[in-house]
Amino acid sequence: MMTFEQFMQHYKKEVEACMKKAIIATDSDQKLEQSMIYSLEAGGKRIRPLLILATLIAFGRDPRLGYQTAAAMEMIHTYSLIHDDLPAMDNDDFRRGKLTNHKVYGEATAILAGDALLTKAFEMIVNDSNLSATVKISLVQLFAKSAGANGMVGGQQADILGENQALSLPELESIHRRKTGALLSASVLSGAIIAEASEADQATLASFAHHIGIAFQICDDILDVIGDSEKMGKKTGADVDLQKSTYPALLSLGGAKQALAEHTESAKQALQTMDIDATFLLGLTDLIAVRDF
Ligand code: IPE
Ligand code: IPE
Ligand code: MG
Ligand code: MG
Ligand code: MG
Repeated sequence: MMTFEQFMQHYKKEVEACMKKAIIATDSDQKLEQSMIYSLEAGGKRIRPLLILATLIAFGRDPRLGYQTAAAMEMIHTYSLIHDDLPAMDNDDFRRGKLTNHKVYGEATAILAGDALLTKAFEMIVNDSNLSATVKISLVQLFAKSAGANGMVGGQQADILGENQALSLPELESIHRRKTGALLSASVLSGAIIAEASEADQATLASFAHHIGIAFQICDDILDVIGDSEKMGKKTGADVDLQKSTYPALLSLGGAKQALAEHTESAKQALQTMDIDATFLLGLTDLIAVRDF
């Protein structure tokens, strides 16, 4: 039996190898390829792929079944970060401890690298020879819905429109649910789809994933106020500069921490009702909730 540390280390490496292999297997433009690899290899906690694999393990399934899906999810996430940092969006210079993609390759290539990572993700799922056509269709549906206008992209749009606005808590939660929660939820649910989990289990996992999704962005917002930019590899204070709507802005730091604790607790409660081996899912929940303040 692996420890949580071993789980993290081992599967991070496996997913990273899958991503690299998928990119260099294509005969694409050298600059574009370098730019895609630059952001993929810049580091990152790999929380989303690890959630997929932890879900498979929870159902006693072989985590290797989820490698391509996990790599695909991390590519979509990385694309979202490259675009999030662009001057037209959050205009950030550092990401994952390195210069942002557009700072190194220019805006045009950064935009295209994001586009290429997004499309590559779907290609990887469709070409995965370990999964049935039925499972792959479900995954493509889930990924498209969570990444698109009703998911991450829609949330990013609402986040931008929410700058300089006094939003209500439900409005803010709706932004968090879409811009960040959607891909985290899709990660857990794609693990459940590959594991062919029952509808009841998928519904409970959806509740778990909903809460960790919101918790994750609350934590990101808290860290933007009080985190260590060296450790996080990105600028802090960015949200105040851009007058973003965040939990600390709306509820103060104490209120934000309280909301984080509540969502974490609800996430754990959902897991406790299930007959699965949730060890690694719980480990990831703690990682999300108790990030280094
Ligand atoms: C940062 O995501 C952006 C948000 C959705 C809050 P992560 O905190 O997962 O970033 P990496 O992948 O570890 O760099
Ligand atoms: C980004 O939220 C969410 C997505 C990339 C979809 P933030 O803008 O808060 O993320 P950071 O703080 O730049 O990582
Ligand atoms: Mg942003
Ligand atoms: Mg940002
Ligand atoms: Mg942030």
